[in-house]
Amino acid sequence: MNMKMSVAIEDATPVVDAEAVRFEFRDAMSRMAAAVNIVTSNGPGGLAGFAATAVCSVTDSPPTLLVCLNRSASVYPAVTANGVLCVNVLSDGHQDLSRLFGGKTPVEERFAAAAWSELATGSPVLEDALVSFDCRIVRRADVGTHDVLMCEVEAIRRRDDGHGLVYFDRDYHRAGPGKA
Ligand SMILES: Cc1cc2nc3c(=O)[nH]c(=O)nc-3n(C[C@H](O)[C@H](O)[C@H](O)COP(=O)(O)O)c2cc1C
Repeated sequence: MNMKMSVAIEDATPVVDAEAVRFEFRDAMSRMAAAVNIVTSNGPGGLAGFAATAVCSVTDSPPTLLVCLNRSASVYPAVTANGVLCVNVLSDGHQDLSRLFGGKTPVEERFAAAAWSELATGSPVLEDALVSFDCRIVRRADVGTHDVLMCEVEAIRRRDDGHGLVYFDRDYHRAGPGKA
């Protein structure tokens, strides 16, 4: 972290400007391309779904991925009460769906915009997702504003056509088949 962001107070003790640090981190993270996903959940806590880029593989033994979820998100109580979720990886035609699930739209309206099915856990599986990972949440760690959810994969559904959807520089881009 660039310590030039610290500010001096009267006794010359450097105090880190937390807001500036937060801004620089977010700005720097905008340079990290990330796949866009719709994370869904259903169960006793109710139906929930949100757009997420903070998703990555942890290990293949047992198949596990992680999802970072803001504890202040409206979906947080439902997802954690259900204990299950499905990571639906979006394709390049899904920008509008991502905007819908990443905004303040009521849950019924979010799900009305696409077709869904189920696999193992009862979490909604997006019909035309590039790939869907249906998972049980096996561990949770709270880090700052977010929970890191460790999710064991119980079922996978994939299709082999379609391009990926990537979020980069605060905008959506297509991830094509050509080599870089
Ligand atoms: C492209 C994109 C990526 C996002 N990634 C995440 C993420 O990884 N984790 C997260 O908690 N929220 C993420 N969000 C925000 C959630 O989708 C948002 O908080 C969610 O829709 C819930 O909003 P609500 O609390 O108003 O219901 C992302 C939003 C967008 C548009």
